[in-house]
Amino acid sequence: MKIAMIGTGYVGLVSGVCFSDFGHEVVCVDKNPAKIEMLERGEVPIYEPGLDELMARNVAAGRLSFTGDLSQAVEGADAVFIAVGTPTRRGDGHADLTYVFAAAEEIAGCVGDGTVIVTKSTVPVGTNRKVAEVVAKANPSLEFDVASNPEFLREGAAIDDFMRPDRVVVGVSSERAREVMGEIYRPLFLRDFPIVYTDLESAEMIKYAANAFLATKITFINEIAALCERTGADVKSVSKGIGLDGRIGNKFLHAGPGYGGSCFPKDTSALARIGQEYAAPQQIVETVIKVNDEIKRRMLEKLRDICDGSFNGKRMAILGVTFKPNTDDMRDAPALTIVPALVGGGAKVRVVDPQGKREGESLLPGVEWVEDPYDAAADADALVILTEWNEFRALDLGRIASNMAHARLADLRNIYSAEDAKTAGFEEYVAVGR
Ligand SMILES: NC(=O)c1ccc[n+]([C@@H]2O[C@H](COP(=O)([O-])OP(=O)(O)OC[C@H]3O[C@@H](n4cnc5c(N)ncnc54)[C@H](O)[C@@H]3O)[C@@H](O)[C@H]2O)c1
Repeated sequence: MKIAMIGTGYVGLVSGVCFSDFGHEVVCVDKNPAKIEMLERGEVPIYEPGLDELMARNVAAGRLSFTGDLSQAVEGADAVFIAVGTPTRRGDGHADLTYVFAAAEEIAGCVGDGTVIVTKSTVPVGTNRKVAEVVAKANPSLEFDVASNPEFLREGAAIDDFMRPDRVVVGVSSERAREVMGEIYRPLFLRDFPIVYTDLESAEMIKYAANAFLATKITFINEIAALCERTGADVKSVSKGIGLDGRIGNKFLHAGPGYGGSCFPKDTSALARIGQEYAAPQQIVETVIKVNDEIKRRMLEKLRDICDGSFNGKRMAILGVTFKPNTDDMRDAPALTIVPALVGGGAKVRVVDPQGKREGESLLPGVEWVEDPYDAAADADALVILTEWNEFRALDLGRIASNMAHARLADLRNIYSAEDAKTAGFEEYVAVGR
């Protein structure tokens, strides 16, 4: 199959590279010339483990190429995927579909008859039909089909998620679209990965429902964590105890500083807005959004407590600012709420993150970036673990504690224990839900 991928962000690039690895001929397009220049030099503009090698292999095999010219990319394509951003629209919480419709209009102007236009971006119910309207209006004589193919990959594990998915969801309204999508995903079908064919609206809804459910699960355990703190229970034991119940499952039950990232905040907000628009309020999701915001504030209170009630003049070391490990993505990371509050409160903040500096530098003004956790903690009044990168999981806590001005540890990802901290010589240790 010949595939054009519009947008080379976290989803478009990974999808394009993986489709080429399936054996398809893929051209990836982006309107950002700097990204295309990097890709043409063989450099990956994002941090995603394993992506550089897979990309190089498929470029070398002649199946994968990059261009800034959309018309060149879609020429002769069996399917054109739209994988552009759908951020929160400023002001009202809806998904901003400007980029999706702009891409649809551009595609309409240069694509040939018989192409399937596939929306991979996360879009509200009804968007695929609107994409079809936009294309038909821009090019009334064009024969085309649309398909909805929401993406479920996780940053940091994106290639494995794409190559070994729990399921692939395909929304179609024509036999032709189903055939083309079936051919594209044939390598996964042959390996028995489930492919769920459904209508356009259900496919669109599945993506929002899945993300809202996961955000709810995280928020649920975060709220239980607050109760654990008051009652003396340990949320780690509680997570284990409930997660072993097959009906509940152990994933997404780790208490922490609240969910963030490029998807959950914007997708829960969009789903809440869709519910209001259709007079079917999503009250659980609305509450999840509110509670998640409160959790971030609660983390700040914890930090203030271990800083004797004020950040003013305190030297604080922050380990990890990306929204989760193994990505450089800073979108809606809890660090973007917590770190500015520390700086604003008069703290002197040092930050270490294995991949976060490139994105984070402009987003976190007034902090000092250092490379090494031990340097960050030297002479500090408090050490805060915000993102659980692997390199922070086995630190020599004794060495850190002995070099701090005040050995206090706020472990907001529960990767150590009160006992570890005490043995290492920390005078204070706070975690989440323990
Ligand atoms: N990031 C994730 O983990 C993830 C997971 C599942 C689904 N999604 C969804 O996938 C979509 C894309 O997300 P992302 O994180 O990859 O976004 P992103 O912001 O990283 O990338 C989007 C890219 O599209 C490009 N672009 C925009 N309009 C264009 C046009 N007309 N022509 C060519 N290029 C254009 C931008 O320059 C940018 O490089 C969103 O709807 C998101 O909700 C994201």
